[in-house]
Amino acid sequence: MSNVSISDAVKYIGVDDHELDLFEGQYIIPNGIAYNSYVILDEKTAILDTVDARFADQWLANLETQLQGKAPHYLIISHMEPDHSSVIGRIFDLYPDIIGVCSARALPMMKRFFTTDYSSRMMVVNEGDTIALGAHTLKFLMAPMVHWPEVMVTYEQEEKILFSADAFGKFGALDADEAWTCEARRYYFNICGKYGAQVQALLKKVAQHDIRTICPLHGPILSENLEYYIDKYNTWSSYEAEDKGIFIAYCSLHGNTAQAAQALADILAAKSDIKVATADIARDDMAEALEDAFRHDRLVLAAPTYDGGIMPVMDTFLHHLASKNFQNRTVGIIENGSWTPMAGRKMCEMLQTFKNIRILQPIVTVESTVKESTLEQLNALADQLLQ
Ligand code: FEO
Repeated sequence: MSNVSISDAVKYIGVDDHELDLFEGQYIIPNGIAYNSYVILDEKTAILDTVDARFADQWLANLETQLQGKAPHYLIISHMEPDHSSVIGRIFDLYPDIIGVCSARALPMMKRFFTTDYSSRMMVVNEGDTIALGAHTLKFLMAPMVHWPEVMVTYEQEEKILFSADAFGKFGALDADEAWTCEARRYYFNICGKYGAQVQALLKKVAQHDIRTICPLHGPILSENLEYYIDKYNTWSSYEAEDKGIFIAYCSLHGNTAQAAQALADILAAKSDIKVATADIARDDMAEALEDAFRHDRLVLAAPTYDGGIMPVMDTFLHHLASKNFQNRTVGIIENGSWTPMAGRKMCEMLQTFKNIRILQPIVTVESTVKESTLEQLNALADQLLQ
């Protein structure tokens, strides 16, 4: 068990996963991931969430170390995604008198995930309901779509702890030596990016509570400088850019579109000290590229024409942006084509379905290779990007 200390009564019982190749079957996690879980020891004992099924035995051992033979009274179920809910059945089997506590939306999900019907052992809570454990009192706040519809968070009133479900989580196991922001940002936009309005609603509720500690379901327990994390969440969920800067996302069949993208980066660097980041979306982590698109206030997409449309990896990137509600940005376009350039028009068509996107015109067309005339177009695009 990670050596995590919260308080005399609130104990960490989560696990680190360094075995999983892809989180949710799609996101690389070079430093693993933590499935956090907690137990509050009081006159009545509450367990807050379980972990991924592959770590059931380790988690049950962590739990037993804290319970020391006592039977727990409540299992709080914040979120039904299997990385947190998979051991619920074993808990009900082990502790016949335990009461499961969940939102109304979680109950039907339990019937879908488990073959046993646990309804008779469940207590459904609504917004603002409380459960007294003794010195500690749990207050439940609904957080639908942060990140699934049944999600709720729990505010512990005595120690002023917010058990925040997926919110404020990050990729990376707890024993990973890395800063919070980068992997929290990649986690946020890829997991919750679509649900900015719902995250904003949760932040409004959070603002009404005096919070000293945030205990998420992934990533470290946050107990200092909480305004920093809340401020980041406010920026991210409002779809405002975090940094002034230009992110150039490109793909390239034979290196010519990549050369144009790099030439634009060089021109921008020569003209100003603005921050410029680039990514080859065919080779670099697309989840990181998506994060970088949200992070900066200006985006450039560079792609060749392929089969009469856009090179597929850029098509995919645009679909990722669309699915996460990418909006409120200025976008420059670079296309390449050797007989009938189409990628630019197709990229524009997709971007026009997004909210509040300003596409810089004219787009840059590379005719097979970068020439003096291409550099002139890139120079003009750079001027527009810097205006
Ligand atoms: Fe970590 Fe949405 O589950």
